[in-house]
Amino acid sequence: MADFDYDVLVIGAGPGGYVAAIRAAQLGLKTACVESRETLGGTCLNVGCIPSKALLHASEKFEEVSSGVLAHFGVNVSGASLDLGAMMGEKDKVVSGLTGGIAFLFKKNKVDWLKGLASFTGPNTVQVAGKAVTAKNIVIATGSSVTPLPGVEIDNAKGVVVDSTGAIALPKVPEHLVVIGGGVIGLELGSVWRRLGAKVTVVEYLDQILPGMDDDVRKEAAKIFKKQGFDIKTGTKVTGVAVKGKKATVSVEPAKGGAGETIEADVVLVAIGRKPNTEGLGLDRIGLATNARGQIEPDHDFATTVPGVWAVGDVIPGPMLAHKAEDEGIAVAENIAGLTGIVNHDVIPGVVYTQPEIASVGLTEAQAKERGAIKVGKFPMMANSRAKANDEPDGFVKVISDAATDRVLGVHIIASVAGTMIAQAAQAMEFGASSEDIAYTCHAHPTHSEALKEAAMAVQGKPIHM
Ligand code: FAD
Ligand code: NAI
Repeated sequence: MADFDYDVLVIGAGPGGYVAAIRAAQLGLKTACVESRETLGGTCLNVGCIPSKALLHASEKFEEVSSGVLAHFGVNVSGASLDLGAMMGEKDKVVSGLTGGIAFLFKKNKVDWLKGLASFTGPNTVQVAGKAVTAKNIVIATGSSVTPLPGVEIDNAKGVVVDSTGAIALPKVPEHLVVIGGGVIGLELGSVWRRLGAKVTVVEYLDQILPGMDDDVRKEAAKIFKKQGFDIKTGTKVTGVAVKGKKATVSVEPAKGGAGETIEADVVLVAIGRKPNTEGLGLDRIGLATNARGQIEPDHDFATTVPGVWAVGDVIPGPMLAHKAEDEGIAVAENIAGLTGIVNHDVIPGVVYTQPEIASVGLTEAQAKERGAIKVGKFPMMANSRAKANDEPDGFVKVISDAATDRVLGVHIIASVAGTMIAQAAQAMEFGASSEDIAYTCHAHPTHSEALKEAAMAVQGKPIHM
């Protein structure tokens, strides 16, 4: 490849980009990856999936020992106290271990890490840190960033109005945290701070939290979060946030109009979604257009309309999830290498890592009904022996299948280990399983996964333990 510096140059070292770069190098292509952050791993490893899960885990442990909930198991704990500095330190250690791990993998696979912000100067050329770098193929994996709320200024350093990056690094537990947005970030990070002692109010514009999820899941989740102490204000819009010193006043009113009210908070978390990172990339210089949502729309192979330019991850349509970005990263590298890289976008699981966890794959009941006749089977976790033994009664498993063929179209789970259980459902769907296939698969006893088997049996109308 004498004409170019690299066979493949990837812009962005998040789960989409770093995986694409490693896979391309594994396939024998000379590869570089440009990253503007100090460390590799993108949003997910630095300020997203990993630090949030570290805090979710640690705060769950804290709540377990500090709330007295273990007493009925005969475990009495007294004198539990919070060392927030140590908790944050542990989170930072996990993050640096994993981001450092990607640097190691780059070295091992001979991927060059180019530090700086990349911008196109031509279809095969980008400018990085004042230098032109050329590549036969360029993969855009620039990810996403927080959607701002007009009129509300985020200042993570000040720590009063923050985004998710600020909310995973608060120096103290807020007395009152107001979360704007009842989506995944709001509920996960709201859970962290509620468990550590904050009063948490969630303000959601729509009539229900967790948009896009199955209606049964949304209703049940709202009940569970309210029981945990969340104050959830649905159908409510924020009209302004005024900051005075270390306090904020959030003005809200009914989304449909009506009398407004104010809520006093010491921290306001803005979590109303994320937008693709395409600004400043110089896409106009290569004639690459974005859609109305600012996303790049590649074809099925992740090729854009500009020959040699590809795109994966949060910057393209689909759920903004790390594993979706990773799978696309592998597929794009394989396509560049002349292999056949495919991602089945119909089977991308999603997990909300609250307690209980909420996990879904495939179509919601409403989406499935739009396509034709369906059968639905539901099984409550309350009737699952392992969940009962663990005192984890909340939630259910719901299996949706095609009425004519019995092919599984969607699975929705609320359970303490729903994120682990959903892998089985995703694999079954990937293999084109029927609900009967799941029902007649032997599941170990006693496990939470038996609830999936029973929900599949319920599709046929014959669960055993209900
Ligand atoms: P990113 O991870 O955003 O990486 C893009 C990288 O490109 C960034 O490092 C950026 O600095 C770099 N970049 C951008 N522009 C340029 C440029 N011009 N030049 C050089 N570098 C550039 N997903 C899950 O699946 N599970 C979770 O538990 C989960 N938790 C999350 C929690 C939070 C708080 C947040 C914010 C997100 C979470 N996500 C989770 C979503 C997940 O982080 C993203 O879907 C994932 O990181 C997308 O990967 P990506 O490679 O497309 O982009
Ligand atoms: P989100 O899309 O999940 O939720 C945003 C919420 O804000 C929605 O309920 C929406 O209706 C609401 N909203 C929008 N505008 C509003 C307004 N003006 N006032 C009040 N509410 C408003 O987005 P979120 O939580 O910011 O997360 C962004 C993305 O990050 C997620 O979509 C997900 O892809 C990813 N993520 C994934 C996680 C996981 O997989 N566990 C964890 C965290 C983030």
